[in-house]
Amino acid sequence: TEETLVLVKPDGVARGLTGAILARIEAKGYALVDIRLVEPDRETLARHYAEHEGKPFYEPLLEFMLSGPSVAIRLAGNRVIEGFRSLAGTTDPTTAAPGTIRGDFGRDWGLKVQQNLVHGSDSVESAERELAIWFA
Ligand code: GTP
Ligand code: MG
Repeated sequence: TEETLVLVKPDGVARGLTGAILARIEAKGYALVDIRLVEPDRETLARHYAEHEGKPFYEPLLEFMLSGPSVAIRLAGNRVIEGFRSLAGTTDPTTAAPGTIRGDFGRDWGLKVQQNLVHGSDSVESAERELAIWFA
């Protein structure tokens, strides 16, 4: 069965939305394989976000991810990678569809990075790479 990495990012944890987000994941039917509160260092985040190095939002993204704890979740189920990204909604929370995590709980806070509550791996290769980082 397929697995993916989900992160409830610092904005989601700080706003007390971890439970609401987990409830949607569980209601959808995916299995929680592992879950932990994480406080990653810069090196861990640089590995996780290596594909974005050099982009204008890279430094603000790392600063944001360093701003507080996240919750890392190992999720399993058929097509869970695609399924969780569908639950999460598109990257920009202002326009993410209502009914999605980002669409229902997110907005533009006028910051340099899109605070969009969750991360989900975008491919089987990304999921394997990211799970090795967060659940070493
Ligand atoms: P993740 O599930 O977090 O990887 O989101 P994603 O796959 O929808 O987005 P992507 O991997 O392209 O970007 C990673 C993160 O960088 C996003 O979740 C945002 O927090 C931030 N980000 C991405 N694109 C932009 C952008 O154009 N502007 C700003 N300010 N932030 C961005
Ligand atoms: Mg991504």
